[in-house]
Amino acid sequence: MSDQGTDYRVVALPGEGVGLEVTEAALQILHWIACQHHFTVQIDRGWIGAPAVPLFGSPFPDVTAQLCQDCDGILLGAVSQGLLELRQHFDFFANLRPVSPYPGLIDQSPLQPDRLLGVDLLFVRELVSGIYFGAAGRSSDDRGSYGYHTMQYHDWEIERIARVALQQARSRRCHLTIAHKENALPQIPWVRLVQAVGAEFPAVTLQPMLVDNLAMQLILQPQQFDVILAGNLLGDILSDLGGVLVGSIGLLGSASLNAAGLGLYEPIHGTAPNIAGQGIANPFGAIQSVILMLQQWGQQAAAAQIQQAIQIFFDRGYRTADLNRYSDQPTLTTQACIDQLIRILRSLDQSI
Ligand code: IPM
Ligand code: MN
Repeated sequence: MSDQGTDYRVVALPGEGVGLEVTEAALQILHWIACQHHFTVQIDRGWIGAPAVPLFGSPFPDVTAQLCQDCDGILLGAVSQGLLELRQHFDFFANLRPVSPYPGLIDQSPLQPDRLLGVDLLFVRELVSGIYFGAAGRSSDDRGSYGYHTMQYHDWEIERIARVALQQARSRRCHLTIAHKENALPQIPWVRLVQAVGAEFPAVTLQPMLVDNLAMQLILQPQQFDVILAGNLLGDILSDLGGVLVGSIGLLGSASLNAAGLGLYEPIHGTAPNIAGQGIANPFGAIQSVILMLQQWGQQAAAAQIQQAIQIFFDRGYRTADLNRYSDQPTLTTQACIDQLIRILRSLDQSI
C-alpha cells in the first residue's frame, strides 16, 4: 500500500426497517478496520425505498443514482421498494452469496452438525434479468382476469453470469452446480449455454441439477456443493436455504457486481418490520457485506481480520436475539455486538 494510504468513497443506503440499524453498525466496523489498515473511507448517505418516496416521488430517485455514480461501493441496508431499479440501473448482474456456517453456531441450524461441518458454498445468482424483469401485467379474457410475469433470458445474459460462476469455481474447489428446470422450461437452455462457456474452464467440473432436487440436496447433503449458479428467481429462493444452514438469514451478506467491478453490498435479509427500531437486529449480514466489499477492493487482510473476529465472537457464545435458541448467554443488542467485536478486533491487533 502507498504511503498516502488508499481512499474509498462508499455510498450508504440504509433504507428502511432494520436496514438503518445494521448499516450504521456495519459502518462502525468499516471505519475501525480502515483506520487499522491505514486507508480512509468517505461515507455519503443516500435515500432509497419508502422514505425516499415522499421526498423525491420515487423509491430510487435520480439524486441517489447520481450519488452512487463513480463511488467505490454501495452499502445497502434493507428496502421494500426501489431495489430492483437500483440493481438494474447499475447493471449489477452478478450476485454472490457465500454460505459457510460458523463452527460456534453449528447448534443453531435444524440440521445435524455432521451434515454442516465443512460446508462452504457460494451462490452465484443472475440479478438483472429473468422473470423479475420480463413483460408483466394484468389483463382479462373470456375466462376472467389474469396476471402474468414472463421469464426471458438472452443467451448472452446466461453466458456472462456463467463466466462469473466459472471464475469463482476455478478460484475455489473447481466444482460448479447449474440449477435449472429444463424439464419444464426447455426454451431457456441454461445447461447447454453454461457448458459451452465451461469449455474455457477445463479445470472446473460442471454438474447440472434440477432445481427441485437441488433444494432437497442442499438440506440433505450441503457438503457436496462448491459454487451453485442459478437464474434470478431460483437463486433468490435457493439462497434463503443458506440461512437455514448457517442458523439465521441475519448472518448472510451479498455482493452484486457489474462488469466494471462496481458493487452493491447488502445483507440478504429484509426490513424485518417486526423488530425494527428496537436495536436488536443481527448486524452480521451487513458486516459480511462489508467483508465482501473489502475483498472486492483487494483489502484481503482487513477482510480476514473481521472474519476471524466474528468467528471468535460466536465461539465465545455471544448471540443476537435471532440466535439465542440454545445459549445460556444473555442476548446482545446490535450495538453491544459492535462493541464486543471491536474489543475482539483490538485484541487480535495486539497479538499480531
Ligand atoms: C433478495 C430479496 C429481493 C429479491 C426482494 C426484496 C426483491 O428477496 O435480495 O433476496 O427477491 O431479489
Ligand atoms: Mn430473497
